Amino acid sequence: MSNGWPESAAAWIADMGERGDYGRAFVLDAPMLARVRGRGFATALDVGCGEGRFCRMLRSCGLRPIGIDPTEELLREARRRDPDGDYRLGRAEALDFLDESFDLVVSYVTLVDILDVRAATLEMARVLRPGGALLIANLTSFSTAGPSWKYDAGGRPYFTIDRYLEERVEWVSWRGIRIHNWHRPLGSYMALLLDAGLELRHFAEPAPQGGDPAKADRYRRVPYFLIMEWQKPGR
Ligand SMILES: C[S@@+](CC[C@H](N)C(=O)[O-])C[C@H]1O[C@@H](n2cnc3c(N)ncnc32)[C@H](O)[C@@H]1O
Repeated sequence: MSNGWPESAAAWIADMGERGDYGRAFVLDAPMLARVRGRGFATALDVGCGEGRFCRMLRSCGLRPIGIDPTEELLREARRRDPDGDYRLGRAEALDFLDESFDLVVSYVTLVDILDVRAATLEMARVLRPGGALLIANLTSFSTAGPSWKYDAGGRPYFTIDRYLEERVEWVSWRGIRIHNWHRPLGSYMALLLDAGLELRHFAEPAPQGGDPAKADRYRRVPYFLIMEWQKPGR
């Protein structure tokens, strides 16, 4: 069964535009790039690169990223926007690269999309060189444990979560996009990353920086994203 990405690609590309959506432009991009710049990284793999926006950003920071994604429709757009970039068909669960190939591996809001996240975590750790970094942005697990925002009798919004410890996949839809999203407790992700032999170097729940005040207020009430940096031990 499709995970919805091929059918949603056109709407996703339209929604991203040049700057990315609110969460990318006003919450994630700045702290993600801050963890890349000035670190001496040269080679990078963007796992689930989509239409290539973060690869283009990495290239503008002087890195030589390879973007992989299983959705041909998104890769086509990545190549169209960045003809000199390197975008390849691939899945996180079986990365077609030698061990220890990359200084930096990025998963920019893709863990929630990946079916076999255990295999993907092991693969991302495998292709990292010792001392290299796995930089992850993901949805917070309480935000994937919705039914999320509701309204009380006075019309005031409040946020609900349910079945937090129960891993599950659900269809989520917005602005013409309809895709599978996995909910997994944060502890499941942490256990997999630790089992892959990685060491946690950074953890943040970034606050919004500007943009639509109503959206910023919601993000502050319930942070939608987290950022983690894991390091492969050695050298
Ligand atoms: C939410 S989008 C994020 C795209 C991009 N990283 C960004 O932030 O704009 C999730 C991406 O994960 C990709 N994806 C889905 N399953 C995947 C898998 N098993 N391995 C790698 N990427 C996958 C989708 O095709 C989609 O491009």
